[in-house]
Parts: sequence; C-alpha cells; structure tokens
Amino acid sequence: MSNQAQDLSTLSPEEKRALLKELMQKKASQTQTVAAQTDDIPPEHYDFFHYPQYRNLEQLIAGMQANGVVDPYFKIHEGINGDRTKIEGQEFINYSSYNYLGLSGDFDVSRAAKEAIDRYGTSVSASRLASGERPLHRQLEQAIASLIGAEDAIIYTAGHATNESTIGHLFSKGDLILHDALIHNSVIQGCIMSGATQISFPHNDWQSLDKILFEQRRRYKRVLIAIEGVYSMDGDIPDLPKFIEIKKRHKTFLMVDEAHSIGVLGEHGCGIGEYHNINPTDVDLWMGTVSKSFASCGGYIAGCQAVIKYLKYTSPGFIYSAGMSPANTAAALASIQKLKAEPQRVKCLHERAKLFLELASDRKLDTGMSKDSAVIPIIVGNSVHCIQLSQALFHHKINVQPMIYPAVEDKAARLRFFISSTHTPEQINFTINTVADELAKLRQLNLVGYTT
Ligand SMILES: Cc1ncc(COP(=O)(O)O)c(C=O)c1O
Repeated sequence: MSNQAQDLSTLSPEEKRALLKELMQKKASQTQTVAAQTDDIPPEHYDFFHYPQYRNLEQLIAGMQANGVVDPYFKIHEGINGDRTKIEGQEFINYSSYNYLGLSGDFDVSRAAKEAIDRYGTSVSASRLASGERPLHRQLEQAIASLIGAEDAIIYTAGHATNESTIGHLFSKGDLILHDALIHNSVIQGCIMSGATQISFPHNDWQSLDKILFEQRRRYKRVLIAIEGVYSMDGDIPDLPKFIEIKKRHKTFLMVDEAHSIGVLGEHGCGIGEYHNINPTDVDLWMGTVSKSFASCGGYIAGCQAVIKYLKYTSPGFIYSAGMSPANTAAALASIQKLKAEPQRVKCLHERAKLFLELASDRKLDTGMSKDSAVIPIIVGNSVHCIQLSQALFHHKINVQPMIYPAVEDKAARLRFFISSTHTPEQINFTINTVADELAKLRQLNLVGYTT
C-alpha cells in the first residue's frame, strides 16, 4: 500500500489522468458485465412490490372490497379490550379479546405493572442469562410451576417464540414430532426449525396416533406428541388421559399447549391437568402464554427441573433474547395471584360460556365442537357471508372477528366468540338473539347455504 502510494506520488499529472481514465473504463466495463449477467433476474426476486405472495394478498383484499366487504382486521380499540370496547368513539360488546378473566385492565394488575416500572424501569435490556434477572422473573416462574404442579418453569417474551424455540431446540433430525391436525402455527414453526420428521394426526384422534406410533416408533430416536389444552378455532378439549396412556405405552414426550386452557379449565383455572385430574408430571412440556388469561405478554414452559435448566442455559429464544419486561412480568404474576385469591372469576367464566352455548343451541346456531371452554365458534360456512354477518353485528354494536379462508376451510368459516368472566348474561342474551336474527335475514336473502 505504501509502495503503491509512493509510486503514485512519482507520477506526473498527465500519467495520473491516464491512469484514472483507465480505471474508470475498467469499472464501467465491469458494471456492464454484471448488468448483462443480472438482466434476466425477475423483479419478484429482488423487489417486494412484485413479491408473488404480496400480489396475491392485494388481489384478495381487492376482491373483498369489490364485494362491498370492509377489511375486518386491524380495528383500533381506544380503551381496554374487555367485555366492552370502544372503536371510533363508540362502545361495543366485545368478543374479540382473550381477556378471559377480565384481568387486563384490572386495577391491582395495572398497579403491579406500574410499580414494577417505577422500581426496575421499562426494559431489562438484555438476556437474563447474560446480564442478570429481576426477582419478578423467578417469582413468576415459580407461580406458574406451582399453579400447574410442575417442578419448575421458564418464561419467554412471546408465546409463539416459546413453541418455536423450545421445540426447535429440543428436537432434531432423526426425531419425530406428531401433532394434532389443528395445532397452532407456533408448534408447526418449531417442528420446521427442529429438522425432525413431522406427522399430523387427525384432530383429537388418539386411536390414529396410537396406530402411527405402533408402525413408526422404532424408526426414530425421540418422539414428541404435541396437542393443545383447548383448541383455539373450535373450543374443544382433548382426552388428555388417553394421550398420556399412549405416550407411556410408546415411550415418547408429551407437550400440551395451554394458551387457551390455563386460567380457564378446572375449578381453580389450573388448566387441562386440573380438568382431567391427571398427575401433572405425566406431561413433559406444559406450554402456555401469559398474554390471554394472565393479562400480559409472553409464554412459558413448565416441566421437570432438568428440562427447564437445560432450556435456561441453551434455548436460543431465551439466551439470545432480552428478558421479559418488568411490567409484563409483574402483570402476569399479579394475575396469577388474583386468580388464586378470586376463584369466583373462573366459576363466572364457566357459567357465562355455558349460558352462551345453551342460548345458541336454543336458537339452532352451530357451535361446532365447543364444550366447557371460553372459545365458542358460530359456524357460518362461507367466508364472504361470515364477514357480512360480522359487519351486520358491528352495526348492532357487537364486535366479533370472522375466521375465514385460508385460516379455516371456506365451508368452516365462522365467527369466533371469546367469552370473558366479565360478560353479563344480558350481553350474551342480546348477542345470541342478534346473531340468530341477522343470520336468518342472510338466509332469507338466499345468501347463506345453511344446514343445521
Ligand atoms: C394455541 C396457541 N399457542 C400459542 C400462541 C402464541 O401465543 P402468543 O400470542 O402469546 O404469542 C397462541 C396465540 O394465540 C395460541 O392460540
């Protein structure tokens, strides 16, 4: 470099100009060669405006607009999203939140979050492994473990990341993951990340699972069975004792995603384990989120001390990610304390969900497989009509989200109602009557191919 600098310094001004010209010509010819080599790369490979999946999405939205359908997503809620909500300055009866126990917006839970901010700030700014934790983190993990009856627990900053990171990390090529056909996307993503072979078995069908295991178990090292405590599309509950029997017979691991069952199922809201009165140590990985019943944001795995310790020292989504914020940790902890102190919240939730199902049945509405949970679909059976029904309800000040193709099959398009312990019988009565009346109107207009 210094030699070159010396050489250059010995050049005359004419020689320098000639050298510069030569270099520029070389550069221009290189640029032309690269341009010629990349001429035929189509824009969808380097410009997101032409990205085919984006173009499909735009077409879908344009199609909905052409049918007079307003985009039902990304509504702005101007206050607490509970049994009521405020949208565009107007109040609605609300069924679009997972605030099952009414704890998001609860005075004590909010106060705990505010106190945590005052004491610890708004962020822990780094991974707990690398830069240390706050007392709240361990307190929350112990509260979760004790609620479920597990030895220990680990909290992550999102429920989705909990499944991805845990499954993706614990299993690998040569392993098998068997999951329910209706399992949540986060489990599927975890399977993909793991590199394990993935097989889906028909919904809740433990006999099929048993058969697959008789045929396939010996071909793999570790096998994971993944199911949910309450299925988020249908609100139904698997026969957990049967899955435990199968897991023991075939020597596999069993994971239960309790996103929609923790705080909801069982007399004390301890989840599907309490509901079925099983031994909690028979499930290897209890997964759940604190974003629903527990009024916060994040996820957890509860299980034996060995797996929790291993995850805490090695799980990528935990060790390479900042810890849960003080406010979120405190809100989840306060929610669990409140659940224990006020079991009537769970009782009330059960009563409201039961009332909803009974009234729906009286009006011959199709609530599918929902039973004993806080997720109740009303199946409409056509995506466009489902959106139209949700819009009609919106005019009656009822906010409920449509679930349409491709989230579910078109013939299974539905309105999904999430019941909260704070819904009143009057709200539920009004809702069911309005749904039934509006659906009947759509049917009369021959818009809905309806079967009961
Ligand atoms: C069954 C299930 N598992 C995991 C998740 C992800 O949880 P989170 O929203 O807390 O990331 C969800 C979210 O709705 C879910 O329904």
